[in-house]
Amino acid sequence: MKGVAILGSTGSVGASALEVVEGAPDRLRAVALAAGRNVERLAAQVLRHRPVLCSVEREEDRAALLARLPAEARPEVLVGEAGAVAVASHPEASAVLCAMVGAVGLRPTLRAIERGVHVAIANKEPLVLAGRLCTERARQSGATVLPVDSEHNAIFQSLRGHRSADVHRIWLTRSGGPFRTVADLDSVTLEQALHHPTWAMGKKITVDSSTLMNKGLEVIEARWLFDVPAERIQILIHPESVVHSMVEYIDGSVVAQLGPTDMRVPISYALGFPERLARPASMARLDLLRIARLNFESPSFERFPCLGLAYRALELGGTAPAVLNAANEVAVAAFLDARIRYRQIPALIARVLEAHPVQPGEDLEQLLEADRWARERATSELGRG
Ligand SMILES: NC(=O)c1ccc[n+]([C@@H]2O[C@H](COP(=O)([O-])OP(=O)(O)OC[C@H]3O[C@@H](n4cnc5c(N)ncnc54)[C@H](OP(=O)(O)O)[C@@H]3O)[C@@H](O)[C@H]2O)c1
Repeated sequence: MKGVAILGSTGSVGASALEVVEGAPDRLRAVALAAGRNVERLAAQVLRHRPVLCSVEREEDRAALLARLPAEARPEVLVGEAGAVAVASHPEASAVLCAMVGAVGLRPTLRAIERGVHVAIANKEPLVLAGRLCTERARQSGATVLPVDSEHNAIFQSLRGHRSADVHRIWLTRSGGPFRTVADLDSVTLEQALHHPTWAMGKKITVDSSTLMNKGLEVIEARWLFDVPAERIQILIHPESVVHSMVEYIDGSVVAQLGPTDMRVPISYALGFPERLARPASMARLDLLRIARLNFESPSFERFPCLGLAYRALELGGTAPAVLNAANEVAVAAFLDARIRYRQIPALIARVLEAHPVQPGEDLEQLLEADRWARERATSELGRG
């Protein structure tokens, strides 16, 4: 029986992960759950899974959670970043699923990595902010880092049994998002940006998918997870979202992973690793005859400047990806609060990235300082309109 700790259990990935756990009662058990403020959902999860430890964002969330639980079902409940780190450190958790959103997941993710356990990573922002540090610490601790992002999970699967020296390039696919065929991006509304054509996800990643920043963050994530330079990571628009990504080898062979558009597939691969867990009856099998055609296109760097900004940050190196990520988090939050228009998202990120004096970013403090600087700079740019 594998004990699982879930960071971000109340989110889209976290909730799907608990479905995977529930579907494999003889293999997996949720021992610790970290959430933010959604105590209603967390209370329901506690009653169903009976974890021994939980964490919430604030003291008032703790009180609200405990008030919803009968005495016999109350786990230990901790608060804030230290609480999430304790969830990632739980001794009964031999697998930790990192599914918080944003850089806030960095310290709990690092803690899980330092423990040397199985670390299933959906939360890409820590890898963007501190990819070198995360992968170095995984090497030191012997942690098995298992990507949950469907593209990286596909690449991980496509690399198994092959020598990394034989990789020619990586093809990251993407659906194209809601605006692939929309000519005028100036008048895009929040509602349109939150409507993803193929995936149901949290709000931040849904907006990131529409601007293509999500794909940019994924390029940086892939660079660190698979140790492949940016110039050998290419993006393909693939509207059907059936081919989740591919690896091209030096002999011309291309190995791909295909599957249903359902996050339970990569989550179950990552939690079950190295074995596979059976598909739940509620998940449709991939029906290639029904889909019949698979289409591929190049992305437009002109229409979606976030993509170029991400490659630029990777090229600048050091603290630049941390700055890109932080400025994007501030810009997307402002767009979600209707404080800026859609087109202002890349403009704000570009201004912050240009103003940043890049540092080597070799230690955590320097990376966190760059993250702080970028948030302050982006917020003051917002204040100036
Ligand atoms: N959704 C997908 O299909 C998908 C696919 C690939 C990768 N990812 C990546 O996976 C991560 C999660 O995505 P998601 O779509 O699941 O996001 P989401 O639905 O917004 O969930 C985010 C989770 O993080 C928690 N959280 C947020 N701020 C927190 C804080 N300060 N302290 C503690 N917990 C906090 C939230 O708690 P509350 O809700 O309780 O406040 C929630 O549990 C992202 O990095 C995303 O890029 C997602």
